[in-house]
Amino acid sequence: MNPAPQPHSSAGVQAAPFLAACRREPTPYTPVWLMRQAGRYQPEYRAIREQLGFLGLCKTPDAAAEVTVMAVEQLGVDAGIIFADILLILEPLGAGLEYARGDGPVIHRPVRSAADVDRLAEVDPASLAYVYESIRRARAALKVPLIGFAGAPFTLASYLVEGGGSKDYLRTKRFLYEDPGAWRTLMEKIVRATVGYLNAQVDAGAQALQLFDSWVGALSPGDYRAHVLPHVRALIGGIRPGVPVIHFGTGTAGLLECMRAAGGDVIGLDWRVDLDAAWARLGHDVAVQGNLDPVALLAPLPEMRRRVEAVLGQAAGRPGHVFNLGHGVLQQTPVAHAKAVVELVHELTAR
Ligand code: CP3
Repeated sequence: MNPAPQPHSSAGVQAAPFLAACRREPTPYTPVWLMRQAGRYQPEYRAIREQLGFLGLCKTPDAAAEVTVMAVEQLGVDAGIIFADILLILEPLGAGLEYARGDGPVIHRPVRSAADVDRLAEVDPASLAYVYESIRRARAALKVPLIGFAGAPFTLASYLVEGGGSKDYLRTKRFLYEDPGAWRTLMEKIVRATVGYLNAQVDAGAQALQLFDSWVGALSPGDYRAHVLPHVRALIGGIRPGVPVIHFGTGTAGLLECMRAAGGDVIGLDWRVDLDAAWARLGHDVAVQGNLDPVALLAPLPEMRRRVEAVLGQAAGRPGHVFNLGHGVLQQTPVAHAKAVVELVHELTAR
């Protein structure tokens, strides 16, 4: 009997276009995946989520693996991202977490003082064992690499301090201005928790990691350098070598050089920057991911195609481009358009 092909073998998976692009190696076509590729724009996701609730879905490894794999198979993307949420780690930190219907996340015990920071627990990575189990199950079913992820320290701190989402991050920035010592202790606690969490995701089978600093664009470059950069650098430095790290943020046009200095093999760009100009600023010795405006998927297909071509034109076929949106798939996105983006990228870049 002939040996079966081994899509999960280490050599086989390392050759996958997504991982090759993270290493800035040439690929047969530009790899593509979409942030929030599993989510409410899919009727199948809504049906499962209706049954379990959002936290229930995150904590049921079979279901979390199922929606992860379903998105990959439906869209034909080059990587999966484990279905979870950046805020799950706030539970073992002891802050209390709830996803209220329609109102977004609520943190029950916000962190507003040095004493609140001291009350936060040291996180035992085992408290998030359900995420690692989801990773193991998704890996067993996937033929493309699987991405693990976590929130970056500033973005997680913003939820902890605000008690939920925010527009201006007024409480978060005031905390940092009023008590930089407590802020530093908070960042260090989050970094310790996140390093343990991400390395456990790698042990469970995650083949790349993305750090989501979704709200870091609220900071000036000076504040980023003084109060965030050292912590992100320590976090990335604590991740097991050999696993590519994607460092993503939004509203980061003023922060790109700082993010690059903090680290990451791939810098994730939002749509507010020209990909070519951003890549030149970062230096071509780092890979980039992005950066189609998620709203382009709501446009008629010819307009969407024009915008995909524009992003690819700026990447100019240079090795080290992972195509993605500039932020997550919007709920109003037609599934057919999400599929069409993936097909278009593959078709337009076949080399
Ligand atoms: O990308 C994927 O497919 C993997 C899953 C994933 C989710 N959240 C699922 C989710 C990932 C990678 C995230 C990351 C995340 N979560 C971020 C960073 C990325 C970004 O969008 O900036 C942030 C800021 C969060 C926090 C969060 N989770 C918020 C603010 C909300 C509520 C707002 C909303 O969109 O509903 C969530 C809930 C959430 N996380 C949903 C999904 C699919 C929607 C929940 C639902 O089904 O009702």
